[in-house]
Amino acid sequence: MLPFWRLDPPFRFAIYIAFAVLFASGAAWLAADQLKETSNGEIWQQAAAYLLMVHGGAAMVTLMLLGALFPVHIGRAWRAKKNRATGIVMLAFNAVLIATALGLYYLASEILRSWASNLHIAFGLAMPLLFLAHVKTGRWSSTPRVPRRGPGSQAPLPCGQEGSRHPASRENQYSGLGLSFVTWVNRAQVPPTNHRPI
Ligand code: HEM
Ligand code: HEM
Repeated sequence: MLPFWRLDPPFRFAIYIAFAVLFASGAAWLAADQLKETSNGEIWQQAAAYLLMVHGGAAMVTLMLLGALFPVHIGRAWRAKKNRATGIVMLAFNAVLIATALGLYYLASEILRSWASNLHIAFGLAMPLLFLAHVKTGRWSSTPRVPRRGPGSQAPLPCGQEGSRHPASRENQYSGLGLSFVTWVNRAQVPPTNHRPI
């Protein structure tokens, strides 16, 4: 059974798309902004305006998705004590991005606005790496643990043999899919039950 804090595929897909559009439009705006002073400056100026429009639209959808994440993902994973460390960093980064975006709209002081812009850009460009770390550690923390067995391990197996003597231990050592192989081996050791049809 899947962990109850895992996102439904369509919702997960929507989050990935929303952040991909935010990242791509933000990064492309940075490039267009640099090219404003070149000979084709007018085209780049126009492109930058369109990119910010796409970015602002994606931000609105993202805010809706982030709100929906609280009951179905964040609250559930928090109560299950799963992946809290990178989860908190995700929340903090998103809070900074939202607060600085608000600053970009409403801060009157040029100095504060340029701080908000620099912070927004720095945290925004780091988002893909943070996503990768969050999802990877999240998947790892949600994977059921199987005690390590193999050559040298004396842990008894469910079939009664010692780990190092078990015929499967060499295969365990060299198997690329170690964890699933061990699970499969252990399952194979369970004697068949004599179920009588009711
Ligand atoms: C803005 C905040 C957050 C976003 C955008 C976010 C997004 C995601 C995404 C897209 C995934 C991969 C899809 C999945 O496997 O369900 C994921 C996985 C995960 N997240 Fe979050 N998350 C956030 C906050 C948190 C917090 C605060 C926690 C913990 C309290 C958390 C715990 C987890 C766990 C445990 C997984 C692995 C789920 C699994 O594969 O079983 N997340 N997150
Ligand atoms: C995912 C990574 C992100 C990147 C790389 C990024 C990048 C950028 C950049 C380069 C700008 C223009 C800065 C300026 O005008 O000085 C910007 C503006 C903005 N960003 Fe982001 N951003 C990201 C995520 C977000 C998020 C999560 C939100 C909110 C949910 C958001 C909302 C906004 C808003 C509202 C603006 C102002 C748009 C406008 O002036 O019309 N961004 N962003």
